Amino acid sequence: MSKGQSNAEFGRSAQHINFGTRIVEMARRLARFSESSDGLTCTFFSPAHKATASQLREWMLSAALQAEIDAMGNVIGRYHGSPAATKSVIVASHYDTVINGGQFDGRFGILTALVVAEYLSDVGRRLPFHLDVVAFSEEEGVRFALPYLGSGAIAGRFEEAALESRDGNGIRLADILGVSGPSTIRALARPANALAGYLEVHIEQGPVLLEKELPVGVVTSIAGACRFHITISGVAGHAGTVPMARRHDAAAAAAEIILAVEKRCGAAPTLVGTVGRLAVPAGAINVIPGRCELSLDVRAADDATRDAAVVDILRSIDEISARRGVTTDVKEVARQPAVPCAARLQSAFANAIARMGSEPLYLSSGAGHDAAMFAGLTDIGMLFVRCGNGGISHSPLETVTEDDADFAAHVLLDTLVNLD
Ligand code: HGY
Ligand code: MN
Ligand code: MN
Repeated sequence: MSKGQSNAEFGRSAQHINFGTRIVEMARRLARFSESSDGLTCTFFSPAHKATASQLREWMLSAALQAEIDAMGNVIGRYHGSPAATKSVIVASHYDTVINGGQFDGRFGILTALVVAEYLSDVGRRLPFHLDVVAFSEEEGVRFALPYLGSGAIAGRFEEAALESRDGNGIRLADILGVSGPSTIRALARPANALAGYLEVHIEQGPVLLEKELPVGVVTSIAGACRFHITISGVAGHAGTVPMARRHDAAAAAAEIILAVEKRCGAAPTLVGTVGRLAVPAGAINVIPGRCELSLDVRAADDATRDAAVVDILRSIDEISARRGVTTDVKEVARQPAVPCAARLQSAFANAIARMGSEPLYLSSGAGHDAAMFAGLTDIGMLFVRCGNGGISHSPLETVTEDDADFAAHVLLDTLVNLD
């Protein structure tokens, strides 16, 4: 038993444990639950999503955690702390995916927390806080275009209006949740005084650790995204009879707007702008597009850089629309602030990495994460793990080696055992 062991002795005694193979194997097994026959798609409350939640709960129970699935579909496993424990540390990430996504985005952090909690339980090592392993149900915002529904509920940031949102088939969020009202969701919120911190282990989704040849990195800050839905209304017409100079082509206007976004967002190092969705509803090969719908996502490591770019992009949209004789409706659907990771937890991860003989590299996150929901409520910390194939993510090519998975799990274990 590990009761009498010092933290250092405990860390050394765990060194021979191979967490990595199990993490990768469980990620592969979870990927079998998908809405598509080829590739992994697991969106909010689909049958695949529910099967994934049940599988995670089963694994949590067999790891001797108390486990339940809450009204928002979050899977919450608790490894109780020592009898004096009054607060929890949440170690979490999300299990929903983008369409045709990767097997490790979000899931890696859940499975790493799960195998570490299981090990602590196996050896009977109690921590001075409860360890809550949480699998959030919705981070990507694919089905309802509302990101962070799962973590937002637990962080007490759920907005009642979200219940009226409808998915692509017109189904309301309230209908699929089957909740009697917002109070059920509000009751999921954790008060700040019940939390001793929030940790998230996540794939880097970029090439930095690969290029630096390091297995893990300490996250300093998380970029905040501004997201918009844009609808351009022009004039539909016959593709063969309307002279070019007399057209009000909605898709051509969209094309010019996309190039304006690309140009403006190339103007600052951490600034990025993406039009991820672009559609001509009911378009036809011989009809000039009368309507075009597109999404816009703008983010940067700091809000001032991002917000200045948004102002310029909106001005360009107005100028392009006026010149082309189209009308453009721009609806802001999300505005997340960039958030810093707590220095206390950055050093906790860095010290664990150093104890394991590696160099703690610090890097910011261009991707958004559930951790951002907990900023301001409790200290947040994030650990990135290297991913292969050039760091690609939101793609079936997403990959992590068993060795790196193992290293990340040992860093998490060491961090938790040494967390004051
Ligand atoms: O969009 C993001 O940054 C995250 O993958 N949801
Ligand atoms: Mn993602
Ligand atoms: Mn993610």
